Amino acid sequence: MKKHIVLLLFLAISVLLVCSLAIAGVNPGTGIKQTAHDLSSATGRGSEWDAGVAADPALDRICIYCHAPHHTVKAVDAEANGVDYFPLWNHDFSTQAAPVGPGYTPYTNTLASAPVIPNSIQHQLNADLTQGTPPGQPGGISKLCLSCHDGSVAISSYGNFNGGIASSKHTGSVFATGTRIAIGAGGDLSNHHPIGFDYNAVALADDEIRDSSSVLLGNNPYGLTISDLLYGDKVECGSCHDVHNTKNTGLKFLWVEDTNSNLCFSCHAK
Ligand code: HEC
Ligand code: HEC
Ligand code: HEC
Ligand code: HEC
Repeated sequence: MKKHIVLLLFLAISVLLVCSLAIAGVNPGTGIKQTAHDLSSATGRGSEWDAGVAADPALDRICIYCHAPHHTVKAVDAEANGVDYFPLWNHDFSTQAAPVGPGYTPYTNTLASAPVIPNSIQHQLNADLTQGTPPGQPGGISKLCLSCHDGSVAISSYGNFNGGIASSKHTGSVFATGTRIAIGAGGDLSNHHPIGFDYNAVALADDEIRDSSSVLLGNNPYGLTISDLLYGDKVECGSCHDVHNTKNTGLKFLWVEDTNSNLCFSCHAK
């Protein structure tokens, strides 16, 4: 009788262990493997985004969609595309981003025809985004994200730099456009959280924006501060998301989980 219970317990624990191993990779902070950014076909989502053609079937690599060891984008090409940060970058650049494309419509919340915002204490204290530092075009680092997320270029369009003589060359046809992951599709960033503006300039003028030396709220084992997440003082996609799922504790690559809106409260003293 007792033996049976022990055996059952052992089986139950084994099943639990196998299950937790299977989802380990998707947990925040456990690395890129098995996350949405693992576009290999064996452990990741590659088959969904690679037009049915497995990327590098023999090797089935993970980094290759974004980086390669050789023949990656050159500074001169990056500059022509308005990208100033390109770590061994291997993905084709957005055709929407300026100066190659028409650029993006930044975040806005007022119409030209709207009456002046009521002169409440709230609005006097808040430095409105339209005063001083309106969000501009996304910075280079955000353009790396937008090269997949704005849907102007196929997800599996990589390794074609420098005349296509690359360590890997593949051009697929599955675009992010029309999916939930499409951000900035058709150049429209107007209804997304503002990016491409100076955080510190806003924090100086707006007493409900925390000083950038503040540490993030919630589960923050690395003691990250807001300024750790700014790029030349600016808020970019990477200010909220950790592209490799390494030092974040939130799902969707968020630096901290948005439980009780901890992510928002980290910057907004509301
Ligand atoms: C979905 C695209 C994507 C994939 C896949 C990806 N990266 Fe990155 N990587 C980026 C972006 C975007 C940046 C620039 C943002 C940053 O620095 O955090 C970057 C920056 C880097 C950097 C320089 C900054 C740093 O964190 O040290 C290194 C090194 C790097 N990646 C290595 C890798 C390796 C190794 C892999 C595969 C295991 C990989 N990446 C997979 C998008 C990706
Ligand atoms: C090589 C193309 C590529 C690049 C570059 C890229 N992404 Fe992604 N990203 C994807 C794809 C494809 C998915 C969706 C995968 C799926 O769910 O099938 C995704 C999903 C996501 C998700 C949703 C994660 C989830 O768990 O649902 C976030 C957030 C995200 N990306 C943010 C970023 C940010 C921020 C950057 C730049 C720092 C970036 N991505 C760069 C291709 C890319
Ligand atoms: C101010 C913080 C912030 C910034 C800046 C930001 N995001 Fe996000 N993003 C979030 C949060 C929070 C979520 C989760 C929302 C949810 O789960 O509904 C999210 C979700 C996503 C998703 C997944 C959407 C889905 O429905 O699954 C993608 C893709 C994404 N972001 C890409 C980007 C890209 C690309 C940029 C830059 C152009 C960016 N984000 C800038 C906070 C941000
Ligand atoms: C990295 C810091 C940071 C994070 C994280 C962040 N924000 Fe912001 N957000 C800002 C700054 C700075 C502004 C511009 C200043 C302002 O208008 O208050 C802004 C602007 C806004 C605005 C527009 C205000 C206006 O004047 O139109 C709203 C609304 C907002 N954020 C909500 C959120 C929400 C909701 C979250 C969580 C999902 C979030 N923010 C996360 C820094 C951040």
